[in-house]
Amino acid sequence: MDTARNSTAKPLLRVLHGEALATPPIWLMRQAGRYLPEYREMRAKAGSFLDLCYTPEMAAEVTMQPIRRFGMDGAILFADILLVPQALGLDLTFAEGEGPRLSWKEGKIDPATLAPAEAVDEFLTPVYETIGILREELPSETTLIGFAGAPWTVATYMVAGRGTPDQAPTRRMMFAEPEKFSDLIARITDATIRYLSLQIEAGAETVMLFDSWAGVLTPPKFEEYSVAPVAKIVSALKKTHPDVPVIGFPRGAGALYRGFAEATGVSAVGLDTQVPLDWAREAMPGVALQGNLDPMLMVTGGQAMVDEARRIVDVMQGAPHIFNLGHGITPEADPRHVETLVRTIRG
Ligand code: CP3
Repeated sequence: MDTARNSTAKPLLRVLHGEALATPPIWLMRQAGRYLPEYREMRAKAGSFLDLCYTPEMAAEVTMQPIRRFGMDGAILFADILLVPQALGLDLTFAEGEGPRLSWKEGKIDPATLAPAEAVDEFLTPVYETIGILREELPSETTLIGFAGAPWTVATYMVAGRGTPDQAPTRRMMFAEPEKFSDLIARITDATIRYLSLQIEAGAETVMLFDSWAGVLTPPKFEEYSVAPVAKIVSALKKTHPDVPVIGFPRGAGALYRGFAEATGVSAVGLDTQVPLDWAREAMPGVALQGNLDPMLMVTGGQAMVDEARRIVDVMQGAPHIFNLGHGITPEADPRHVETLVRTIRG
């Protein structure tokens, strides 16, 4: 690898391009969120979560909060995976304390009634503006991460209209109405390609695809609805933006992680808390690995957190590694534990 060029690059980007660093870069999923008092204050000022997402100055400000407080190596754009279904025409609300609710026009789940993929160009303009502001404000060593939901996970919220424990409504539609369901996935995939391309053109330096519910799919369906759409998105983005790495996060994929890493063309995979790290390192030598720490440790902190963080760093020594959690940080987390974690990782 050309070290002369890479030594000046941002640590997170260097790892995404395959370098192993002695001190791994760190960021946390959901690092801007309710566990931070300054987030809660800004959210109250905005009035609602969606107002916060759609007001670029405020969305940029909350993206910056964990950068200022902890000096994270990655800044993840403040937005939500459910803005895409909203752009495609569904009604989206976040009821206080209840999570998201989505509804279709006239209550009928019919992919043919969705707005065309191009709807994301206009509708999501505030998101691209947020990215523009962030590129001006972020420290030069910080990498700006754009994101979207992977099509399967976005579909689970569109079909059920809310979060469910086992994605039963969507698994039912997938088996009972395969043509209609494939059409839905294809439409989300096309919209996601446009959305991520526009994020990159606005200044996102890497993009992450969250397939948070990949773990409920059988191996053939995982292939069809997690791997294939993600591969299609990666290949489309590579055509227009060959140097922008894509991070995939097929949470719960278990042994199927390996095939995902091989077949999608992603540069990195996010690991959930259950993947054995030594297995992952061996099974996926071609990609950078990110994640694995149990988010509960950010609630409890202490020696258990420090020991587990050190174990992860030790196992990944000599391989491309980005320190992160196995899922998003929760509202109960203590910001002081995040501070200790960052200090532990950086020695
Ligand atoms: O720091 C960041 O990561 C910022 C951006 C971000 C949010 N959501 C902000 C958010 C990102 C990357 C997401 C991804 C997301 N959103 C996923 C995939 C990752 C995962 O957690 O599995 C999913 C499934 C969603 C959908 C979603 N958004 C749900 C189910 C909920 C409600 C549950 C909850 O945690 O409240 C949200 C709301 C949401 N998205 C919040 C934040 C900060 C909380 C909203 C609030 O302030 O009340």
